[in-house]
Amino acid sequence: MTPTNESANSAPQKKRIFSAIQPSGTITLGNYLGALQNWIKLQDDYECIFALADLHTITVRQDPATFRKNTIEAYALLLACGIDPEKSPFFIQSQVHTHAELAWILNCYTQFGELSRMTQFKDKSQKHADNINVGLFAYPSLMAADILLYQADMVPVGADQKQHLELARNIAERFNNAYSPTFTVPDPYIAQSGARIMSLQDPTRKMSKSDENPNGWIAMLDKPDDIMKKFKRAVTDSEGGVYVAEGKDGINNLIGIYCCVTGKTAEQVADEFQGKGYGEFKTAVGEAVIETLRPIQERFDDLMKNKDYLTKCYTESAQKALYLSTKTLRKVMKKIGFLPKEF
Ligand code: TYM
Repeated sequence: MTPTNESANSAPQKKRIFSAIQPSGTITLGNYLGALQNWIKLQDDYECIFALADLHTITVRQDPATFRKNTIEAYALLLACGIDPEKSPFFIQSQVHTHAELAWILNCYTQFGELSRMTQFKDKSQKHADNINVGLFAYPSLMAADILLYQADMVPVGADQKQHLELARNIAERFNNAYSPTFTVPDPYIAQSGARIMSLQDPTRKMSKSDENPNGWIAMLDKPDDIMKKFKRAVTDSEGGVYVAEGKDGINNLIGIYCCVTGKTAEQVADEFQGKGYGEFKTAVGEAVIETLRPIQERFDDLMKNKDYLTKCYTESAQKALYLSTKTLRKVMKKIGFLPKEF
């Protein structure tokens, strides 16, 4: 049987959730609608643990000063989005050493062939052909370590992370079968809406901060005018109707975004814009996104003025994360046969 966070004699505990995001440059509307919005919603009903996955970020070369700035800004932005570190520890991965340690161990339980099949590895090694480092290759076993250290039942992510999640499950099952139940086998939590927000310039590709054309993505900290311009320039089709249909990738994506930020269904949106042109629809999407981001941007500005508070939040969260993850790491090391530490 797989261990869960429920102990036999006590009342059932809340299920545990773990997720993380990389602090690589700007956080996009895709990250927010695909993942962060769900993290915020899940905080009350689950025991949530969140991280900034900065160890993952160095698989691509980083300028040190920019990396530091991106990390603290990403931290503040996620608090501004609504993560409450009192409720849900939200830590910085590199500050909790158990992640790198378990990742090494899991590397020894992950097959070369499995990692070679990861589409993100194939894409990124094409994009960074001059730096196909071992970290880029072994990235999914670090991600598995992140999740398995906390015995997470569920992992809220966008659709692009599904393959990595499946690998984490396989690694957990393999380890459990080789020794005895050790890791909870985590389920992906991929919401129906927002799971795959596409580029505004090429709606067949996911919205990504690594897209060279900045018109393809909305940054969470973009100014209202820029947001509106990007939506007005969004690629659509020549047919003219605002409804979801095959082949209308651009409009389908804009409807998806509009639904996520207004809570409306695709049918309601089609009714609302029946007989209206794309110009009017794009303006409405732009306005809805601007109004969603406005309070987040205001809170972000306030938080960035309060670095002591940010430091306190990530330090206390790292301490909690270290405590929880050490329990799992110790168990794993014992089962493998490492000698116990006597200091
Ligand atoms: P990252 O930093 O690329 O993205 C963070 C989250 O945002 C989601 N996402 C999207 N969702 C919908 N549409 C999009 N266009 C879009 N772009 C990104 C991602 O699916 C993700 O949920 N490897 C992970 C970070 C990570 C992690 C983990 C996640 C490290 N360890 C453990 C979960 C559990 C990553 O690079 O996500």
